[in-house]
Amino acid sequence: NLNSYLEYYKENSKKELKYIVAIVNVKANYEHYDTDAIVKADTSKNNLLLVNKYNYLDETYVPNELTNIPLTYAFDDNQTTKEVLSAFKNMWSAAKKQDLTLIVNSSYRDYKSQEEVWNYYDDLRGEEYADSIAARAGYSEHQTGLALDIITYGANKNNFEETDEFKWLEKNAHKYGFILRYPKGKEDITGYAYESWHYRYVGIETATEIYNKKITYDEYYAFY
Ligand code: DAL
Ligand code: ZN
Repeated sequence: NLNSYLEYYKENSKKELKYIVAIVNVKANYEHYDTDAIVKADTSKNNLLLVNKYNYLDETYVPNELTNIPLTYAFDDNQTTKEVLSAFKNMWSAAKKQDLTLIVNSSYRDYKSQEEVWNYYDDLRGEEYADSIAARAGYSEHQTGLALDIITYGANKNNFEETDEFKWLEKNAHKYGFILRYPKGKEDITGYAYESWHYRYVGIETATEIYNKKITYDEYYAFY
């Protein structure tokens, strides 16, 4: 990517080299959804499937082994993959031992529901705002079945960060295979505003590596 690093550096010479390399490696030197940059997501990667503003899923993509999340763990009807549900149950039980309750607020969303989510924010405050907090249809991790929006009783997405449940997840989610997918300060890399509630399952080994390296999944995928 040498030429791309040099080109990006010309316009961003005050940035650290490490930052420039990360931006180029995750393709964030391109506009979001740029037709020169987008590729079909590699669904053969299973739990390590990358879906972001440069890697998309077909309208018809549905994950294997979707299963309903029992209402003990979710606010309403929700689905995720069997493996993610089993990992979430382990995490839920560990949190419960500390008197904390993790509740799934949103999980698998098909192409059409994602379109509705994006349109809702677009109608509310326009395209730029919608793009900062919601994926366009086909570009959402929620369509992979591997993403869970987690909150707790008495909290919503906006104040979840202040709860003990969030603080616990910050320290422990990786032990159960989950990562905080859109961290604070990484907006240029992920293309999204910070989301304290959106967790992505990647398996314990990968989650632990990402946690220790303090990187995003986009960087992990590009570098490793
Ligand atoms: N809120 C996340 C980025 C999504 O819409 O998939
Ligand atoms: Zn989410």
